[in-house]
Amino acid sequence: MSLLTILKFPDPILRQKAKTVSTFDNFLQNLVNDMTETMYDAPGVGLAAPQIGESIQLIVVNTSWDEDVKDSMVMINPEITAKEGSQIDEEGCLSVLDLTATVKRSQKVTVSYQDITGENQELTVEDLFAVVLQHEIDHLNGILFIDHLSTLKRALYKKKIKKMLAAKE
Ligand code: NI
Repeated sequence: MSLLTILKFPDPILRQKAKTVSTFDNFLQNLVNDMTETMYDAPGVGLAAPQIGESIQLIVVNTSWDEDVKDSMVMINPEITAKEGSQIDEEGCLSVLDLTATVKRSQKVTVSYQDITGENQELTVEDLFAVVLQHEIDHLNGILFIDHLSTLKRALYKKKIKKMLAAKE
């Protein structure tokens, strides 16, 4: 296994609509292993394939809510099929440096997806787990959590990043 480089905003790959996965092979399994390791190392609660430069419909989620348990799950071609209620929580993103902000999300979501063997699955989750899935599935559609912020907040952030990048040159 190896650690992968996480792309940062404003990398254009983060803005692409990710492609559907149709081949469930060793390449996919290895990618899942590397992404999972990268997510734990970061550390993050989830990671979407576009964040490591693979524009495909794949996410890994850290489900070790209990700090002592190391567990994760993989969702391929995930799609939110039902949502309910709302919640507002603080979010950050491994691809969006130096920013956390409150985002409004559905409180409960049902996601249909395929597992690593290509088998169809469905899962209904609430609260933090639901936030993580909505955030990661957004990534597969080229959407970042900053897109859920006010125009002003987003503009301020873009300005800050532009300044940071200019300072590096
Ligand atoms: Ni993210």
